[in-house]
Amino acid sequence: MKHETSVRILKELLDQLDENRNVDAGAQYRLPTSDYVCGDLAAQEWATLFQEYPQVIGLSGDLPENGSFFTIDDFGIPVLATRSNDGQFRAFLNACRHRGARVAQESKGKAGRFTCPFHSWTFANDGKLLAVPDADHFGPVDKACMGLVELPAAEKAGILFVHPKPDAKLDVEALLGLELLEELEDWTFADYIHVADLEIDMNLNWKLANDTFGETYHFPKLHKNTLGQLYYGNNLSYEEFGRNHRFVTASKLIDDLRELPEEEWTITPATFVLYYLFPNIQAVRNSNGLNMARIYPDPKNPGRSITRVSGYFTPEAMAAYEAEKAANPDNSNLLKAEDLYSRDASSSKICTPESQVEAFSSTVSAEDYVMGEHQQFTATSGLLKHSLFGHNEAPIHHFHSSFREALGRAPLERVS
Ligand code: FES
Ligand SMILES: [Fe+2]
Repeated sequence: MKHETSVRILKELLDQLDENRNVDAGAQYRLPTSDYVCGDLAAQEWATLFQEYPQVIGLSGDLPENGSFFTIDDFGIPVLATRSNDGQFRAFLNACRHRGARVAQESKGKAGRFTCPFHSWTFANDGKLLAVPDADHFGPVDKACMGLVELPAAEKAGILFVHPKPDAKLDVEALLGLELLEELEDWTFADYIHVADLEIDMNLNWKLANDTFGETYHFPKLHKNTLGQLYYGNNLSYEEFGRNHRFVTASKLIDDLRELPEEEWTITPATFVLYYLFPNIQAVRNSNGLNMARIYPDPKNPGRSITRVSGYFTPEAMAAYEAEKAANPDNSNLLKAEDLYSRDASSSKICTPESQVEAFSSTVSAEDYVMGEHQQFTATSGLLKHSLFGHNEAPIHHFHSSFREALGRAPLERVS
């Protein structure tokens, strides 16, 4: 993020705190709670948002070297992502061209070639078909045409994008817009190092899971003993970039900036910066790196979703962690996950991989998504017809408006 953008956002947040204001969308909107339970809508969302639109599947650091690969099944097709021997990120259907078995079995690893377990057809990590055993028995196979089915893939700003349709066009610039793309490039995500994973499988619609990332109104209430210890809540700098947005909220360390010249202001640890990337990515940049959450529906059950969180360190955070481990084998200066919400410990100790993703266990999963399960149960009863979104919940308006617009549905209903 450019320094002038950081300063503009930090000033806006300081003003909000001083004037006891929050973001104001200019209106309230309401959403039928049936949107969280309707099977027909869920089927339409799955077929459209998750199969017709590009999907973010990770950061460059998930494929750290030539030969790295990972597999992913989360949006209804088997995907094999590789960094081939020429260093290029590629994505394929993880499906053998013989009869469709998976060629890569593990969730991640390193491999120059993949041998299908069924009859041992072998493919290179750039998708080429290398070998067909017993070819004289099998009959002729034109190897040049029988490589793995390639999916459109792009690595931009250190983010891995895949289109689920082999013949689709993947245009990341059009998807994000130039302004957001340049801002994401400024973070140098391409250098971040993957350090932790977390899966949250709970009984709430995937849009309810998204909604919890859409306001800070609840921080001092629901999160008073967790994230609310570190972040003020009730303040938000918010900007839209097409169907995507940026959400920045003040930590209690923002007050330290009041004594510093603006040239020395930095956006973290005075805030955290959250990017929402349409349709299902919530990526939180904190002082140590990035936590990226990918939120997926269960295509068979609108009342369930799976959130996959990947934690990444900046190279600086990784170097600090490794140096501390080497220097002090007693780990006394490392931040324990259970101390994350102690303001002293979190600002003075060295972040660990466990601490980096801890907020997704103790805040998101144990607090936000529990509310989401309550909301899901209520929505399923059919007796509460609408959810109401306030002036201070602008990002939630944006999620639902974007989903609805992409599906050709009527916009959210304005209340006041
Ligand atoms: S299905 Fe893969 S070798 Fe037969
Ligand atoms: Fe929350």
